[in-house]
Amino acid sequence: MRAITVPKPGGPDALVWADVPDPEPGPGEVLVEVRASAVNRADLLQRQGLYPPPAGAPAYPGLECSGVVGAVGPGVTGWEVGQEVCALLSGGGYAERVAVPAGQLLPVPAGVDVVDAAALPEVACTVWSNVVRLAGLRAGETLLVHGGGSGIGTFAIQLGAALGATVLTTARAGKHDRLRELGAAYAIDYREQDFVAEVRRRTDGRGADVILDIMGASYLDRNVTALATGGRLVVIGMQGGRKAELDLGALLTKRATVAATALRSRPPEEKAEIVRGVWDEVWPLIEAGKIRPVVDHRLPMAEAATAHRMVEGDHVGKVLLTTR
Ligand SMILES: NC(=O)c1ccc[n+]([C@@H]2O[C@H](COP(=O)([O-])OP(=O)(O)OC[C@H]3O[C@@H](n4cnc5c(N)ncnc54)[C@H](OP(=O)(O)O)[C@@H]3O)[C@@H](O)[C@H]2O)c1
Repeated sequence: MRAITVPKPGGPDALVWADVPDPEPGPGEVLVEVRASAVNRADLLQRQGLYPPPAGAPAYPGLECSGVVGAVGPGVTGWEVGQEVCALLSGGGYAERVAVPAGQLLPVPAGVDVVDAAALPEVACTVWSNVVRLAGLRAGETLLVHGGGSGIGTFAIQLGAALGATVLTTARAGKHDRLRELGAAYAIDYREQDFVAEVRRRTDGRGADVILDIMGASYLDRNVTALATGGRLVVIGMQGGRKAELDLGALLTKRATVAATALRSRPPEEKAEIVRGVWDEVWPLIEAGKIRPVVDHRLPMAEAATAHRMVEGDHVGKVLLTTR
């Protein structure tokens, strides 16, 4: 088969579409004939040699894919050759075939094209596990989503709105119309506006009940200030750095919590549990048309370098890589 290899880490041109050995599905695994994968921010770091795949993961980039079941390994039940699926991966999605633990597979939701389904697993699992399962977002609460135009952000806005929360989001101004269409009640231009002041203004001074943060250090202090009493801040990205000072006094007074999680390094059993929760709770919202994949571009796998440049630039939602 062919896959995107990274013979020498570096810029987007480090990605090389090359012949590689076919994967074999081991016990408990399913072989997926990949129709599409999607570019995630982590792939840009992996390409630069800054985010090596976890032990046992395929060497090629790609944290999610969609396609058709090509074979099932020993001990797998419930999946059949020819079935359309999408999957959460530890790597290896930028390829014509990938072997996946069966617990990380999902059916393609009814009404979603099999190619576009590649835009869903990573964002659905990350956003649901943090915003719903960890932070416990409830209807009527206010959710602040940083980076609303990202793959993660476009999904978080839709999920928050579908669950009955008021969603505020930060993004550059050119993306605001799209984010309101997705369900954001108000979009904040983080380059021109003070997001803490805007959150207070939109919540009658209360603050946000849940904040989904991708910036890390550079936003920590402001995020804690923007939290409501009993608020929950979940950090999933460190685009603004990893080390910062935390004012515990502010947390104590607000009885607030700060958490940080990563999905990729979780053991397969935890990933399977999250995938099951997403299948039960998020897939019905997609099938009801309340959440849809937000696809910025679809490009052939061989043009992965262009796709990475797009994700490093000014995109909204996901950039997909297709095998046909
Ligand atoms: N922990 C986990 O398990 C996990 C899983 C998946 C993703 N993530 C993280 O989630 C983040 C989003 O991932 P992705 O693949 O969806 O990324 P992406 O599509 O590449 O988007 C990155 C976003 O960052 C935004 N941004 C940059 N500076 C900002 C600032 N100062 N304030 C607010 N937004 C800012 C950009 O928005 P503008 O264009 O509007 O500037 C852009 O939309 C990444 O940090 C990624 O590492 C974490």
